[in-house]
Amino acid sequence: MDEFERHGIGVVSGRDACAHALRSPDLTSDPGAGSPSVLLRDGDGHARVRGVLREIIAGLDPLPDAVITSIEAVVAGLGASFDLVRDFARPVAGAVTSAVLGVPLDDVFLDHLEKTTANLDVFAGSDRAGQASAFRLAVQLSRTSAGPGGLTALREAHAAGRLDEDELMLNPVVLAHAAYENSLNFLACAGLELATSGPRSVRDLVTSVCPARYVLRFGPDGPVAVSLTDGLPFGLGRHACPGSGVALAEGEIALTALAKLLDGGCEVGEVVWKTHSVFHGLASAQVVVSEKQG
Ligand code: HEM
Repeated sequence: MDEFERHGIGVVSGRDACAHALRSPDLTSDPGAGSPSVLLRDGDGHARVRGVLREIIAGLDPLPDAVITSIEAVVAGLGASFDLVRDFARPVAGAVTSAVLGVPLDDVFLDHLEKTTANLDVFAGSDRAGQASAFRLAVQLSRTSAGPGGLTALREAHAAGRLDEDELMLNPVVLAHAAYENSLNFLACAGLELATSGPRSVRDLVTSVCPARYVLRFGPDGPVAVSLTDGLPFGLGRHACPGSGVALAEGEIALTALAKLLDGGCEVGEVVWKTHSVFHGLASAQVVVSEKQG
């Protein structure tokens, strides 16, 4: 892939080679900058932070009734003409992310969360706006009062000595971003597939859409981008997505309701794709539902 090559990053592709790379002890997620993020480290520190996040995510399995109701309300509120990103995927992914953290999230928060994508990409360091957004959200969340949910659980883990100060500062944003960005991209792309090709299972859709196209690892010969497009949409190994069950449950509710809305036919208008090299998604896609006969 051109952009990786330009940055001197090797690419691993093919399911077996990728599975092997993701399980290899010789490849690490840690770029060596001492980041407190669960995504950018390995070893005991990673296992400890990941353990806290897994406990939080387990609180959404099964998806609470209030979350199901708010997802269904988003789809019920779609008019005869809507944008798959702005009107469908964004409010659904936002509602789930809000439930993960246990705090309400407004449009300004979601705007900044989408900007942090750049900060997490493989060429990180070059995008000041993305870093500023991530920093702003970290500060905002550190000052937010929270009810039961992920943010409170992270604070309790800190109070119990399971997380240090830096880990408590950054990982609420990392968790929010992980829950939001891939779900947003998945739901919008899957919605487009339903609108153009008809019903398919959520498992099938997530594999074909594969919203996170690559994950970055560091080895003795430098950085490598491991492709997930050959059947590994949730990754594999130590960093495999701990939220895959939540993502599939969220997709099941939202996409089943959307498929029902579209079953009398629809027209797809202008479709605009994002251009990120890692996160695959739509910027916008207009859908007009056909009038029901009789
Ligand atoms: C369709 C939606 C989703 C996709 C495709 C997806 C994909 C992924 C992938 C590929 C990774 C591995 C990153 C790596 O190996 O470096 C990952 C990590 C992660 N995901 Fe997801 N994810 C989705 C939704 C979610 C949701 C809903 C949550 C939370 C409820 C979540 C939480 C996380 C966390 C915390 C990590 C970091 C795990 C670690 O570094 O140990 N994800 N996700």
